[in-house]
Amino acid sequence: MKAKILVTGGLGFIGSHTVVALQERGFEVVIIDDLSNSSLDVLGGITKITKTTPEFEHLDLRNKEKVAEFFVKYPDINGIIHFAASKAVGESVENPLLYYENNLNTLIYLLQHLREQKNPRFIFSSSCTVYGQADELPITESAPIKKAESPYGNTKQIGEEIIQDTCKAHPEFQAISLRYFNPIGSHPSAHIGELPIGTPQNLVPFITQTAIGKRKELAVFGNDYPTPDGTCIRDYIHVMDLAQAHVVALERLFGKREGPNYEVFNLGTGKGNSVLEVIQAFEKVSGEKLPYRIAARREGDVVAAYADTTKANEELGWRAQYSLEEALDSAWKWQQRIGR
Ligand code: WQD
Repeated sequence: MKAKILVTGGLGFIGSHTVVALQERGFEVVIIDDLSNSSLDVLGGITKITKTTPEFEHLDLRNKEKVAEFFVKYPDINGIIHFAASKAVGESVENPLLYYENNLNTLIYLLQHLREQKNPRFIFSSSCTVYGQADELPITESAPIKKAESPYGNTKQIGEEIIQDTCKAHPEFQAISLRYFNPIGSHPSAHIGELPIGTPQNLVPFITQTAIGKRKELAVFGNDYPTPDGTCIRDYIHVMDLAQAHVVALERLFGKREGPNYEVFNLGTGKGNSVLEVIQAFEKVSGEKLPYRIAARREGDVVAAYADTTKANEELGWRAQYSLEEALDSAWKWQQRIGR
């Protein structure tokens, strides 16, 4: 049996798809999730796909004592992939202390326990949001980190610095931060997918909920940006590609290698698509006409962000395999399965 991996937030959107990929690669998985933005049904979805139910602990990582109890119960954790965090940009502006507590205290408690392990290995779920509006496109990992546009983005920047400082102080640590661009799509089985609670903040779940009739129409947040069709450009990456990248990154941490004990990788397709192009692609794969209107710009949106994926391609040996159309098709199939 391969190593035992703790996946925090493992019942979430990216976490659940990564748990499936880890199990399929033979890793044993323990999930911690506080169910604040996920559901126990996801555990059933994972089991339907891999026929193996991961161990699960319903736990709030902000509770330092509970975290300590967890590591007593599971003394044989060989690595941690840390997804658990609050991630709504707008909410973070209204409730910054919730974000600083939930996204940073939990990280610190996990790292403190990992320090007691023989070979601490840690993968951090970061985000292209750390770049803000990059000066140059595509964005490389050496692009300057600008002042965060939201407390959420700030927690990702600070989180990366906490890990970097820990790795500097403890050479035995091996850690990687993965900066996701825009994760979309669902597992092809449609047993797991994105489960936004309430009104979706992100584009693709709002599109699929509109197409299924749960929302009246999509509001396109501005078409007067300096882009070819006036709408913002993003790098939409299939969650299956993202999940695979976590397995590859973890195996890199297990492999014997020289070089820095802390690394950062952009995870994107390297291709940018505008909001209107996503709508057109969705209409093509679904055969649905999507009702939408042009609305005012959304506060905090950057004009364009897409990844330079050279580093992940060459050093991780990982490259996104799925197209935008395939990702949208999987998102639509998932929406049709869960209904309104
Ligand atoms: C994409 C584009 C919107 C909704 C955020 C976080 C990032 C990561 C991914 C967590 C933008 C437009 C959207 C809608 C629209 N989250 N849009 N109408 O803002 O690029 O990234 O989610 O890790 O950290 O910042 O993604 O999907 O919200 O927006 O026109 O109803 O779609 O303006 O141009 P975003 P998004």
